[in-house]
Amino acid sequence: MKDHNMTRPNGYDYDTDLAPSPVSLAELELLKATVLWSDDDTRALRRAGTILGPKVEDVLDVWYGFVASSPHLVVSFAGSDGQPDGAYLGAVRQRFAKWIVDTCDRDYDQRWLDYQHEVALRHHVTKKNVTDLVASTAAYIPLRYLVAFIVPLTITIRSFLAAGASNADELDAMYNAWFKAVTLTAILWAQPYSEAW
Ligand code: HEM
Repeated sequence: MKDHNMTRPNGYDYDTDLAPSPVSLAELELLKATVLWSDDDTRALRRAGTILGPKVEDVLDVWYGFVASSPHLVVSFAGSDGQPDGAYLGAVRQRFAKWIVDTCDRDYDQRWLDYQHEVALRHHVTKKNVTDLVASTAAYIPLRYLVAFIVPLTITIRSFLAAGASNADELDAMYNAWFKAVTLTAILWAQPYSEAW
């Protein structure tokens, strides 16, 4: 089994005791069914992990480039002066790298569900800025951008997967599985935002 904690970034609390997610495993199964999840997706994600794992820094360069060049997004990483906070961006980036690998490699079990809830709260007003002790002018990530992010986080991954795929079918399988995984994540992270979730 892989050691997911060889280098543990600050605030990467995956394998610690976390508050239980308000979402049940039964609800997760229904969500997975709704995004057309099958065991093939789990297998395709494991394979995607072997391709993306060594490339996480390149992937993050693309995503951080997009955020940095989008004033309406980078404002979420502002410090107390309203300007992008480099230390905050850097601290989150380390946990983001873990997320890419975890999304591919982890079992979507109770522990995974609990960490999704924790990260959901870190986007929500409940816990944003707490982990990295930032006095940010941004109190939360707007839900609309959380949902919209599914598109860039999906589309930009294709060329990375293509570089390691053995054939077109394998590429499609990995790409579709990644799309479903990011969508599932965004749905779970939307939970604290809506009583009608
Ligand atoms: C599908 C949508 C999104 C995904 C998958 C995603 C992914 C992540 C990950 C993996 C982390 C670190 C989690 C951890 O603490 O372990 C994080 C934190 C963060 N993300 Fe997102 N994110 C999404 C949407 C957004 C959007 C739209 C913004 C706005 C620019 C954003 C801004 C942030 C900020 C500021 C943090 C740090 C929050 C804190 O203070 O703890 N995220 N995100």
